[in-house]
Amino acid sequence: MKKMKRNLSLVLVISLLLIVAACGGSQSSGDGADKSYTFKLAHITPTSHMWHIASEKFAEELESKSDGRMKVEIYPASQLGTEADMVQQIEAGSIDFGLITAAYMSSRSPSFAAWFMPYAFKDINAAHEARTTDVAKKILGTLDEQGLIGLDYLFAGQRVMLFKDKEVLTPEDMSGLKLRVTPSPPMQDFYRSAGASPEGLPLPEVYAAVQTGVIDGMDMDLDAAITNKYFEVVDYGAVTNHMVWPAVVTVNKSTFEGMPEADQKIIREALAVATDFAVSTRSAQEEEFRTTLSDNGMKIYDIPASVFADQIAAFDEKYKELDPLIKEFIETFRK
Ligand code: BEZ
Repeated sequence: MKKMKRNLSLVLVISLLLIVAACGGSQSSGDGADKSYTFKLAHITPTSHMWHIASEKFAEELESKSDGRMKVEIYPASQLGTEADMVQQIEAGSIDFGLITAAYMSSRSPSFAAWFMPYAFKDINAAHEARTTDVAKKILGTLDEQGLIGLDYLFAGQRVMLFKDKEVLTPEDMSGLKLRVTPSPPMQDFYRSAGASPEGLPLPEVYAAVQTGVIDGMDMDLDAAITNKYFEVVDYGAVTNHMVWPAVVTVNKSTFEGMPEADQKIIREALAVATDFAVSTRSAQEEEFRTTLSDNGMKIYDIPASVFADQIAAFDEKYKELDPLIKEFIETFRK
């Protein structure tokens, strides 16, 4: 009888563990220093994009720094849904890590719009350094009250402008053009102030829209211009680098804070290696990417910040008033 009771309890405990593992994002076993995890990480880009390559680097580092206790399953290309779906799943604990665009995050916490201050940074190395400032950390901290932790920012390509069949050199040339611009108010405001009509299409719809002439061009990151092969359907590329394009590495607050401190440290360190790797690899590829685009038949050119002086001033004036952290960000970085 005693033996039967013991067996029954064992079955109950095992069933409970299986249910918990099936419901949650990460599966973990053991406790303290021997705890092991299988995390789920999701993002929206294709596997050739730097966000995915950096995710693989993060997984590799995590596994090696934890002596194999921490593994990561990566779900790229919106396999687990849109960014809104992904953030909901992070809140529910069924996804552990998400690379979420700062553009989407600005719809949940307005201060993320600060990162879209036009022509704020000379290159992605400067933006990568800026992420360690007080104001950048305070912006991440605004996610706390939503049950999320913004662990860090991941930078890859900056924003460029691609045009289907018109060489645009000034805001006047942009007048009336229908341009795909991520549905993020600060990005769309910038284009509206330059005279364009922004269309808020999600990434997977952009190729067909420009191919069929529904839009005349797009705001895009340079990586995606290559990895999504937009060079097949546009002729002109202004490598403006007018805005940076951070992903916010987001994790469920109670999951993260429930881990032993030593494990949290391993995660932060692995992430630092992956974000450094993304920026150093990516900044060394700028010339190669420009060449790839021109080898594929595009005319590639620059538009200096001075051409958008009025739009920059309008942006700073409007956004400084919207949020104290955006004001602090602009005052810190506008040189
Ligand atoms: C975009 O929506 O433009 C985008 C999103 C993620 C990575 C690159 C581009």
